[in-house]
Amino acid sequence: MSAQKPIRRITVPQIAAKKGKEPVVSLTSYHAHTAAIVDKYADFILVGDSLGMVMHGMESTVGVPLDLMIMHGKAVVRGTERALIVVDMPFGSYEESPSVAFRTAAKIMKETQCGAVKLEGGQRMAETIRFLTDRGIPVMAHIGLTPQSTHVMGGFKTQGRDESTWDAHIADAVAVSDAGAFAVVVEGVVEELANKITEAIAIPTIGIGASAQCDGQILVLEDMLGLNPKPPKFVKVYGDLGDRIENAVKAYAEDVKDRSFPTKDQVYN
Ligand code: KIV
Repeated sequence: MSAQKPIRRITVPQIAAKKGKEPVVSLTSYHAHTAAIVDKYADFILVGDSLGMVMHGMESTVGVPLDLMIMHGKAVVRGTERALIVVDMPFGSYEESPSVAFRTAAKIMKETQCGAVKLEGGQRMAETIRFLTDRGIPVMAHIGLTPQSTHVMGGFKTQGRDESTWDAHIADAVAVSDAGAFAVVVEGVVEELANKITEAIAIPTIGIGASAQCDGQILVLEDMLGLNPKPPKFVKVYGDLGDRIENAVKAYAEDVKDRSFPTKDQVYN
C-alpha cells in the first residue's frame, strides 16, 4: 500500500488554466501564522525575496541569502495546506547558468517542499526557464520592474512610460511563456503595456503596480494590511494592523507598569 498522501494543494496547471477564465488571487507571506490565513483565499502564496526588506529591514532584495528564503519557505509550507507555494530564487543564486539555477531550485524545492520557484528576467532567462521546466521544476517568471536589478535600472521605476521600450517588454513576456513558465509576475508597468503583455501570451500575468489589465494580482501582505508606514503608491490598504499592534502593545505596557499581571489565568498551562 502506498503511504503517499494525495495532492490537495492548488496545482501549477490549475493556475495556468485560469488564463482568460478567472482572476488569479495571490499574496506574499513569509510566516506560518499569516500564511495559514492567506491560505484560505489565495490561489498561490509567494514567499518573495521582499522578505529581506519587510522582515529583516534590508534596503533592497539584493542582499537576501538563499538560506533565508529556504527558512521562510519552510515556515509557509508548514502553515498551509491549500494554496500553491512559490518561493523566490534570490539574487546571485541562479543567473550564472541554467545548471546553477537547477541546483538552487532543486535545493529550494527539496528543503521547503514548495510547489514552484520564481525568478526575475525575461529573454535573458528564457534558456534557464526551459532548462528547469524540462527537468520538473515549475517556474513563475517576473518581468517589468525587476527589483533584483534596481541598481541597473536606477531605482524602483515604473517601466514602459516610453512607448519605444514596449516591444522589449512584450518580447520578454513572450520569451518566458515560450520557455515554459506557467505564469509571469508583471511589476510596475504602465496600463497599456500591461494590457498588451496580457494579450500577447497564453499564461496568466500576475500584476503588481501594473493596473487591472492583468490576469491576476499580487500584493505584499504587510503593505495591504497597513503594517508598512510608507506603502508604495499603487497599494490599496485593506487593514490598519500597524495601529492595532501599537494600541495592543501600549495597553500591555501600561498593564505591566501598573503591575497588572499580563496573562489571563496567571499560570502557565
Ligand atoms: O518579492 C516579492 O514580494 C515579489 C512580489 C513583489 C511580486 O517578487
